[in-house]
Amino acid sequence: MKKGIIIFLIFIIIVGIVLFIVLTQDREEQNMNQDKNQDTSKFIGSNYPDNINFNLDTGTVILNSGYEMPLNGIGTYSLTKEECYQAISSALDAGVRLIDTAYMYHNEEEIGRAIRDSGIPREEIFVITKIYPTQYNNPEEAIELALEKLDIGYIDMMLLHHSGSGDVDAYHVMEKYVEQEKILSLGLSNWYIEELDEFLPQVNITPALVQNEIHPYYQELEVVPYIQSKGIVVQGWYPFGGRGHTSELLNDKTVVEIAHHHNVTTAQVILRWNLQRGVVVIPGSSNPDHIKENTEIYHFSLTDEEMQLIQNLNRNEKHDWY
Ligand SMILES: NC(=O)c1ccc[n+]([C@@H]2O[C@H](COP(=O)([O-])OP(=O)(O)OC[C@H]3O[C@@H](n4cnc5c(N)ncnc54)[C@H](OP(=O)(O)O)[C@@H]3O)[C@@H](O)[C@H]2O)c1
Repeated sequence: MKKGIIIFLIFIIIVGIVLFIVLTQDREEQNMNQDKNQDTSKFIGSNYPDNINFNLDTGTVILNSGYEMPLNGIGTYSLTKEECYQAISSALDAGVRLIDTAYMYHNEEEIGRAIRDSGIPREEIFVITKIYPTQYNNPEEAIELALEKLDIGYIDMMLLHHSGSGDVDAYHVMEKYVEQEKILSLGLSNWYIEELDEFLPQVNITPALVQNEIHPYYQELEVVPYIQSKGIVVQGWYPFGGRGHTSELLNDKTVVEIAHHHNVTTAQVILRWNLQRGVVVIPGSSNPDHIKENTEIYHFSLTDEEMQLIQNLNRNEKHDWY
């Protein structure tokens, strides 16, 4: 009888020890996974020096000019007249505070009107516009025209839309407008490694931003870190591949699977992927639902593995010529 009790007690002790070991291992595994997730949420695959605070918590970046710019905005290429006015009004209602326009988009007047009508304090909105190479022979006129059409007091950032004859001289004139605080920050668009190497030594104010074509099928894997390493913020145009290409990208199998996993849309996955590479996004849309959806990109994080899966989609496939 006594022997039976002793064997039973030994059995209970052994079961207890085994259970203890199994449960401890489980807990350790859970902790490891939690750590991994925490690391992932902090992951930013960017290459900025310390003075560029690209911050996914505030949704803003401090530029090398000292000004703070939102990480997500709205692009307005191909939006004109009433459609543009309505799109900008919807965007401002949805909390968008970064607007990208250009002389070439023929919509600066509507954008200015939507901003003035919104009642939102001017200093809360960041407006980027661009002058076109055909204007480089008279940059003063081009800048005054942009100021007049927008009619919002000052321009947060002006870009040279493309490299071209007279670009350095035009930039020098833009630098004078920065002194007068009629333009606050300067930047470039469609500028790559060689063009930057040639351009930067010739100017006094380092551009705060370069805006280039960037999407999962055209990722600029060398150009993006190069620009970032100079303390210049990268902004991507055609985040969804641009009109005529969006359907293929937004239905890409890999992106669809990642979107399901996070219970978000493929558009949101693509925008988030950009942010986690340190790339500012300016998706274009005239649909109020899309505009709102495109702002909801801060409540989830892509893992390193998901970032890599999207990187694997790169085809070096440019969707426009410049
Ligand atoms: N610097 C340059 O040389 C340059 C060149 C091109 C573009 N850009 C700038 O980059 C911006 C973005 O480019 P983009 O507007 O041409 O192309 P995009 O952002 O790649 O795609 C715009 C298209 O995506 C659709 N879309 C937007 N949000 C969506 C969502 N959540 N779900 C499904 N579809 C969605 C839009 O349709 P809906 O209207 O129906 O939403 C529109 O047809 C331009 O607006 C412009 O400001 C600059």
